[in-house]
Amino acid sequence: MSALAQTHNALNLAQGFPGFEPSPEIWQGLQDACKKGLYQYAPMPGYLPLRESIAQNVFQRFGFSADPQTEITITAGGTQALYSAFTALVETGDRVAYFEPAYDSYHPAILLNGGIPVPLALQGEQFEIPWDSLEKELKKGLKAIVINSPHNPSGSLLSAQDLTKLGRLIENHTTFVISDEVYEHIVFDGQFHAGVLQEPLLKDRSIVVSSFGKIYHVTGFKLGYAVAASPIMKEFRKIHQFQVFAVHSASQHMFYLMMQNPKHHQELGSFYAGLRDAFRMGLEGSAWELLPCKGTYFQLIKMPDSLSNMTDLQAAEWLCQEKGLALIPLSPFYSDGRNTGYLRACFAKPSQQLVAATDILRTIS
Ligand SMILES: Cc1ncc(COP(=O)(O)O)c(C=O)c1O
Repeated sequence: MSALAQTHNALNLAQGFPGFEPSPEIWQGLQDACKKGLYQYAPMPGYLPLRESIAQNVFQRFGFSADPQTEITITAGGTQALYSAFTALVETGDRVAYFEPAYDSYHPAILLNGGIPVPLALQGEQFEIPWDSLEKELKKGLKAIVINSPHNPSGSLLSAQDLTKLGRLIENHTTFVISDEVYEHIVFDGQFHAGVLQEPLLKDRSIVVSSFGKIYHVTGFKLGYAVAASPIMKEFRKIHQFQVFAVHSASQHMFYLMMQNPKHHQELGSFYAGLRDAFRMGLEGSAWELLPCKGTYFQLIKMPDSLSNMTDLQAAEWLCQEKGLALIPLSPFYSDGRNTGYLRACFAKPSQQLVAATDILRTIS
């Protein structure tokens, strides 16, 4: 859709990247790294001061005491952390469950590692875990379960109770959890992000994936990290070492400096809540129905009846070509590409762009 948006010079609320300048502290941090001469390879698991800051942060938020030496690895973004996690855990013929609609890297990463993807559809407008189906699949054997909260594309959240329920369900199985928490700081309306590291039944059998790109508005920097108990992290690092060895050294120092100022991540939720509210208000009373959005920077909108002759994919293409607005259809987030009647808007954009986008959508009755 981004390519189509470019061709048609359309306003792009399709791909999930922030449309603002990052903080000047990013540039200062990079300059500082260069002054310090951080031009050469970083240590394989990552720059130690950064791993120590992550350990502190993870302890403050989840009460999980991660050893920076053995339980945290800096990666080339969330995507590489996910891929290394799959490669570390999945062997040929292993079944791996994940929930749809889903971020697009899970399914191919499971396949590329010889696993069998077991997609399970989230239920209702709150996109809840289908517990009965999960239990059935667990009985047939699951090597791992992938969860993602806050959830792209639906904006839903898993609660601490959901995590406990998941922990109880897999307690007597040898099933791992890969927990994609890249939007962990983008949570709205006074709610808290529930992470697997806070759940006693999950913390020792999970790999948690985070991304600096989402926190500091620099998705192009492609840096993230994984946290896991040391026996799992040992396996993870065997893969990480030969996939990338080490990641960009100067950026690691810069993110270490950024982490010393907690306001960056603490204020992210309220910053994005403002944009979410602006986008939602712009569509109030229009023909577009808004689904709940509790976290992330994505909003799902239901196509009006007047577009019911089109699939979500056709509607997204039509909107882009004829109306100059790029959104993403929900169907590609399902392995069977089902027509959903929903489109996803990324509201991580300056307010003027959100106003322009909602003005375009309001012209459709
Ligand atoms: C759910 C989810 N997981 C992982 C990622 C990948 O993060 P990164 O850009 O750090 O590779 C994204 C990026 O959009 C995402 O939406």
